[in-house]
Amino acid sequence: MLLHTIAEVREQIKNWKKEGLTIGLVPTMGALHNGHKSLIEKSVAKCDRTVVSVFVNPIQFCPGEDLDKYPRTIEADEALCTEAGVDIVFAPSPKEMYGEGHILSNDFLTYVIPPYFYTDKLCGKSRVGHFDGVCTVVNKLFNIVQPDFAFFGKKDMQQLIILKKMVKDLNIPLEIIPCPIVREESGLALSSRNKYLSEKGKEEALVLSRILLNIKMCYNKGIKDVKALSETAYKFLNENHALEYLEFRDKDNLEEKEIADSNTVVFIALRVENVRLIDNIEL
Ligand code: PAF
Repeated sequence: MLLHTIAEVREQIKNWKKEGLTIGLVPTMGALHNGHKSLIEKSVAKCDRTVVSVFVNPIQFCPGEDLDKYPRTIEADEALCTEAGVDIVFAPSPKEMYGEGHILSNDFLTYVIPPYFYTDKLCGKSRVGHFDGVCTVVNKLFNIVQPDFAFFGKKDMQQLIILKKMVKDLNIPLEIIPCPIVREESGLALSSRNKYLSEKGKEEALVLSRILLNIKMCYNKGIKDVKALSETAYKFLNENHALEYLEFRDKDNLEEKEIADSNTVVFIALRVENVRLIDNIEL
């Protein structure tokens, strides 16, 4: 069932709660691919009812980013959800979520701001305010849907860590279920932004997973020094790759590591054909 208004969703949720049914939420920005499908399948298997939100959230895009050209494929998204057994696809308009005039001035919106320590690094460094927008919209979706479980992919690991922190700090009564990264056979992590890449660009983009897998192999062979592990990346890079960061951080609190251990995540971001791609691996 495709619903566009908060009131319609609330009505359904009220009935489900009365019946004592468990609710799973899969928040998305649409352009659904097999990565999203795996989150949806997990929710459908675990919960009595599943809601998928499809909303390209304007307040998490920075000026100059791809808000306008972000792929919008609601018909295909709805078909995928129906096939997967989703009960509600919630696709609100920006006006439904934020009211009139939100784009003109954020001064008229209450935000949920995660701690600076979590957002001044990795993607947050170049995407200032991005995680404020993510936490705000996800908090709103939690309030609208009141799920027992919410499913997020590990592909956006910094986002996942920040949302877990938000749920803990704000005592939000639900459990976040982290879900594994889904990759193409080639190793490329699935992302809606892969659509911007040419065939050659997709080939060049394999550099992310190659670097990460090689680091994991070196780590497993006994190299724990982060400097030494980082240096192994350079042989994979060429003039078609603009590296933004390669960092080793703690998977609970994002603290930087000098010596890698089993609680370390390696994060990478780079541009191919001017498309910003991210990936990560847990050691
Ligand atoms: O990961 C995403 O697609 C978005 O950041 C999310 C969680 C749906 C919030 O808009």
